[in-house]
Amino acid sequence: MIRSVVIKPYRISSEEDAVVVPLCRGDDGRASDPGLDRAARAAIAAEYGKRAFSGSLGETLLLPAPSRRSAPLLLVGLGERAGMDAETVAIAAGAAARALDARRVRSAGVLVRPRVAGDDPSLFVGAFVKGFALGLYRYHLRQKRPRATSLHRLAVRTEAARARAVTAVARARVVSEHASFVRDLVNAPSNRLTPTRMAAEAAALCKKHGVACRVMGRREMEREGMGAILGVARGSVEAPRLLVMEYGRRHAKAPQVCLVGKGVTFDSGGISLKPWEKMNEMKGDMAGGATVVGALTAAARLGLPLRVLGVVPCVENMPDAGALKPGDVITTCAGKTVEIITTDAEGRLILADAIAFARRRFAPDVIVDFATLTGAVLVALGTRIAGVFGNSQPHVDRLLEAGREVGEPAWQLPLDEHFNKSVEGDIADFKNYSGRNGSSITAAALIGKFAEDTPWIHVDIAGTFWSDSAGPPHHVRGATGYGVDLALRFLERTAGV
Ligand code: BES
Ligand code: ZN
Ligand code: MN
Repeated sequence: MIRSVVIKPYRISSEEDAVVVPLCRGDDGRASDPGLDRAARAAIAAEYGKRAFSGSLGETLLLPAPSRRSAPLLLVGLGERAGMDAETVAIAAGAAARALDARRVRSAGVLVRPRVAGDDPSLFVGAFVKGFALGLYRYHLRQKRPRATSLHRLAVRTEAARARAVTAVARARVVSEHASFVRDLVNAPSNRLTPTRMAAEAAALCKKHGVACRVMGRREMEREGMGAILGVARGSVEAPRLLVMEYGRRHAKAPQVCLVGKGVTFDSGGISLKPWEKMNEMKGDMAGGATVVGALTAAARLGLPLRVLGVVPCVENMPDAGALKPGDVITTCAGKTVEIITTDAEGRLILADAIAFARRRFAPDVIVDFATLTGAVLVALGTRIAGVFGNSQPHVDRLLEAGREVGEPAWQLPLDEHFNKSVEGDIADFKNYSGRNGSSITAAALIGKFAEDTPWIHVDIAGTFWSDSAGPPHHVRGATGYGVDLALRFLERTAGV
């Protein structure tokens, strides 16, 4: 775990145990660079010459200290210069951190080279620190503790304006800490992280960072008429919770963004039971909710000048005797009715209640929901890119731009009147499933019916919340923490910072 990140002058040094040298493909270190002395440049060029190192993304090579003034060098590849962005920088940083930690290195300096970092080195700094910290993340529940990471200290060696570098480092540290919080919750087994437990974890984090947090129980949800959340909860012995968090009341005149997150602590499918393969991953079906908690508290820590509301319904979707059944009709807190075609389409139901409640009580300026909503988005966009939908193009554009900036990419999918019609019900106002075709879109369409005329964006993170195999180096097997940086950047853009 990284305990300290400091900013130091841009030069090679032996103050840390290793010097990380980020290199693009073809950038063989021969060109003059005020941070690299002659001996270091010669050592790097020699490896390119021997074809021992090429600069491809995530490649690493440890070289002995080229001179007495230098620690050993860790070359790390950034890939093609043209394809470099916040995501590739984070991947390279994660690879560097893991390579050093595997060699029991305790401290490292990274050279923020002007030829790779470009016009605004603080962007490189932010992405690097995030990838470096998240690459060292571990989760385990073993009796015998695996060895702790050795890498504790990072020196960012840059000639960038100090103030900007300091801000970038501070932000990246908050992001990686809160993304790690999200990973912890998503990785936690559902028998440990019940809805009650999840609400308690969120409340504790809110308290720590001075965010107002209210946890509603069954009674209060009954009073609000939340037939969708209570309906899904009926199949489980675990009691549901509704988290309502509020940051920034003192910024009374600023816009209010409402973040809503799906908090299904386990999704068995309910009576429409899922097949067993990968059902274990459904312990992470609360990733959207965790993302909302992580991003909102991050905004509070950074003191963003706006109001953020967070609404997270936490439930377990199980097939107990009292469970909802296909064909049942529920009444949401907006009064609209929904026929249950499959009890496995539970996310859109609980989000419907959460969004209607948020509109009624707080009338936010914009609603952004995060949800592991559909397997189809995984099929369409894979594991790197989230699906985005919305009823307001300027807001959608703001979110897409935020994703590009922080290296958590998102891609817009269409949502037009044809899709909106497809969720109209036969005996109820709506139905919760209208066929396999375009099912990520029809899921979004149902949620949109409850946002009504409030500007609204839906981010389907079912593809991005989890890394099945080893994944890229800034990820590890299991939860990715995708979405915290994205949501935070969206909030910053809305606040104009
Ligand atoms: N939580 C799942 C979606 C999901 C699938 C998340 C894979 C992460 C990985 C959601 O509640 C669900 O069951 N969706 C169904 C919807 C269908 C029954 C309409 C799906 O995508 O198959
Ligand atoms: Zn689900
Ligand atoms: Mn489901």
